Amino acid sequence: MAGQNGNEYVVQTQNVKKDLRLGEITVHAVRGISLAVTRGEFIGIIGPSGSGKSTLLGMIGGLDSPTAGEVFIDGEDITNLDERALTRVRNEKIGFVFQFFNLIPTLSALENVALPIQFAHKRKYNPTKRAKELLDLFGLGDRMRHRPSQLSGGEQQRVALARALANDPPLLLGDEPTGNLDTFSSEIVMKALRDVQGELGTTVIIVTHNMDIAAQMDRLVSLVDGKVAEDVDARSSARLAAIEMLRDKRASGEISLMSSIGQR
Ligand SMILES: Nc1ncnc2c1ncn2[C@@H]1O[C@H](COP(=O)(O)OP(=O)(O)OP(=O)(O)O)[C@@H](O)[C@H]1O
Ligand SMILES: [Mg+2]
Repeated sequence: MAGQNGNEYVVQTQNVKKDLRLGEITVHAVRGISLAVTRGEFIGIIGPSGSGKSTLLGMIGGLDSPTAGEVFIDGEDITNLDERALTRVRNEKIGFVFQFFNLIPTLSALENVALPIQFAHKRKYNPTKRAKELLDLFGLGDRMRHRPSQLSGGEQQRVALARALANDPPLLLGDEPTGNLDTFSSEIVMKALRDVQGELGTTVIIVTHNMDIAAQMDRLVSLVDGKVAEDVDARSSARLAAIEMLRDKRASGEISLMSSIGQR
């Protein structure tokens, strides 16, 4: 499927690597990952704590630059862009949702969602009108004037999702977007993500430790020790087998999900 710029891939990484220095020690957080993601894919990234999931997502999202390899977003090579150019790419092409909702506490839900539209380099929407539409879409029509502290966790995450989608980016990235939510709120957020993917054709990539969430993804990329261990199209007949295998590995401790402790 051709993209907005006629590109087949929304995300392409080519042998991407990230070394992080910690005092005397160099941590090879990502050790050469090549990933090609087409428009409208719904992908989960899983793997043990420390396997490089957040580091990879940060490089795909232009938050962090690779030590080696290349990253293309919507056909554009973002590997060596300066901070100003990266800011533009993030603003136009990428929506982020994190585990902690990162909303601005002094602004209302409506203002939080409107903010990135006001800052857009090429403004596509009327900020207030668009923010209202998105909040309505996520069932928050009667919460627009609430500040984050006056909203539940699930509601805050839906506001964060609306904000991430404010400029209609082709790519939505989530780092454990349901990590702090109860089952009910997680389901609402997952349904919202699915709706967005289905209706807007947004490509969704989320990191998760939750196997019930992982089981809902169309494609699962599992990382071990900074590399891709498995890349499974869960829509294929291998879906159940793959999920079972991952469950087994988790049960046997081969994939340990350390940071899922304390998570639901
Ligand atoms: N700023 C940093 N400096 C040094 N090492 C780092 C830094 N950030 C991460 N690391 C290391 O890089 C590796 C990959 O970290 P990363 O955060 O990508 O893992 P993760 O898969 O997201 O883990 P989790 O599931 O716990 O969130 C880990 O070994 C981590 O300790
Ligand atoms: Mg992480």
